[in-house]
Amino acid sequence: MILTVGNTKGGVGKTTLALNIAIARALAGRDVWLIDGDRQGTAQTAISIRLESGHLPGIACAQYSDGATLRSQVQQQLTKFDDIIIDAGGRDSTALRAALVLSDVLLIPFQPRSYDVWALNDIALLVDEVRSVRDGLRAYAVLNCADPGESSSDNAEAAAAVADVPQFEYLDTPIRRRKIFANAAGQGLSVLEINPKDKKASEELNSLVKALF
Ligand SMILES: Nc1ncnc2c1ncn2[C@@H]1O[C@H](COP(=O)(O)OP(=O)(O)O)[C@@H](O)[C@H]1O
Ligand SMILES: [Mg+2]
Repeated sequence: MILTVGNTKGGVGKTTLALNIAIARALAGRDVWLIDGDRQGTAQTAISIRLESGHLPGIACAQYSDGATLRSQVQQQLTKFDDIIIDAGGRDSTALRAALVLSDVLLIPFQPRSYDVWALNDIALLVDEVRSVRDGLRAYAVLNCADPGESSSDNAEAAAAVADVPQFEYLDTPIRRRKIFANAAGQGLSVLEINPKDKKASEELNSLVKALF
């Protein structure tokens, strides 16, 4: 399956989720290719740190910030991998558009804040464009950095706002704001691997991966 983690807004957790999902799938025995479609190369850097510290499984990773190259590389290497996870960068870019045209699923992380909710319309228009040229792109919005409280009104309001965006389905598997996500990613690890573990973070990630695949 080709999964793009994308949102034209920056800082919503695209790289964090792409890295965690890619590693979770690799831990489940899948051949995974993580593509960093962002010029900033954060996902690629995290994977380099992972390789340097000898963490297994190793994750194949490449960086293509140019849409045409991303598209041709993915088309060529498609059959070599079970799952391709694309971290698409934080702007409307050729890489993001190429990724969307190739993908089975778009995962849109957003935070329970007004600016993030307003910005969903921007990526919704891109989804419309992709669907006008090809069928079959499934788009799911998921809360990231959700408020830790189980009954947060901000989380609930943000979730309700997604219901007004017909292009997406809301995935009720929020990832809450937990320091372990930042700590693990800094070492090129998923929250499933870092020690000591945070059981809740692992459960949240596993629920998200299960909902997606
Ligand atoms: N669930 C989370 N809990 C805590 N910190 C998070 C979480 N998700 C992302 N972050 C932090 O938020 C910042 C932005 O995340 P990042 O994945 O780089 O976003 P993007 O790729 O969309 O720009 C990073 O410092 C990251 O460590
Ligand atoms: Mg990023």
